[in-house]
Amino acid sequence: MNGITILSAAAALPARRMTNDDMAAIVDTSDEWISTRTGIRQRYFCAGEETVWQLAARAARRALDEAGIDPARLAACVVATMSPAYATPSTACLVQRELGLEESILCFDLNAACSGFVFALETVRGLVTDEKPYALVIGAEALSHITDFSDRSTCVLFGDGAGAVVVAKSGAPFACVHGARGNSEALVCPAFGSEKQYLGMDGRAVFRFAVDILPRCIGGVLDKSGLAMEDIDYFVCHQANRRILDHVVKSMKADPAKFYMNLARYGNTSAASIPLALADMHTEGLLRPGMRLVCAGFGGGFTWGGVLVCWREKGEHLCD
Ligand SMILES: CC(C)(COP(=O)(O)OP(=O)(O)OC[C@H]1O[C@@H](n2cnc3c(N)ncnc32)[C@H](O)[C@@H]1OP(=O)(O)O)[C@@H](O)C(=O)NCCC(=O)NCCS
Repeated sequence: MNGITILSAAAALPARRMTNDDMAAIVDTSDEWISTRTGIRQRYFCAGEETVWQLAARAARRALDEAGIDPARLAACVVATMSPAYATPSTACLVQRELGLEESILCFDLNAACSGFVFALETVRGLVTDEKPYALVIGAEALSHITDFSDRSTCVLFGDGAGAVVVAKSGAPFACVHGARGNSEALVCPAFGSEKQYLGMDGRAVFRFAVDILPRCIGGVLDKSGLAMEDIDYFVCHQANRRILDHVVKSMKADPAKFYMNLARYGNTSAASIPLALADMHTEGLLRPGMRLVCAGFGGGFTWGGVLVCWREKGEHLCD
């Protein structure tokens, strides 16, 4: 199977940082409740005129600069998001405009809720060619724009941000699994034209789904690739809730040090959470060429997906 490797990862966050104590000034909650139930300590919200496409473009520019590739050789620019500023133009077209990307690049948004980034990786794998071997994959959300700040059961969970990666066509190991259960109740946000365009959630149903599907998703990637848990350097899961990830580590008898977590800093940023984690891992110096990563996401619609992807190829030199 034709694979892709990740060449670079970068993040962009909005200006406004909100701690749990700041949230407690808005709704009846506490740092103690939020941190023990979720592991979240703070999140970022777009302030004033800040938009999701600006975050996406900032992260994308950084990822492209770091990869040092010729942007004319990008096959695609895909933005995974469920909180775009516009139905049209797509966030990807706004990124294209901001970065001055060529007309021949396929630019589109992809909505699979929190599984969006994983679905986008799988999608671009089919778009890269020998002539155009690169793709820009961005996860970007402004969930604060679709949050009901009078609902304490949801508003403390979500955050805004963007993460971007540049991927390259590669012969490195790659495997993917995915699915969707057509759920229309547990995580819902009405779209355009609705009076109340807010995220509503049945937290317990989502929790049950997550702890059931994540081990199966990771197991499915391992089965397809013929690898064992020990062969994987990091599991980079959707950062929704520390308790979900702790549960998965326990049920899979996995090494917790291999499950990267940064949700304490950002909350649940939906499609942005996995690329934000990759960007932080890169900044923290955790990633080495040839490392095998399993990225796994789950979310609204009860979508889920996992990919095995390498961080660069051994011997791959980038313009730093
Ligand atoms: C959201 C979640 C943390 C709630 O935890 P929970 O233990 O299920 O809590 P419940 O919803 O049953 O609520 C328990 C109590 O806490 C209260 N509560 C809810 N939000 C609160 C908050 N922010 N602060 C204080 N109390 C809160 C509820 O009102 C309820 O009070 P009651 O017992 O007096 O009725 C948990 O269900 C969860 O993590 N779900 C997964 C969510 C997720 O990851 N979604 C995104 C997936 S992509």
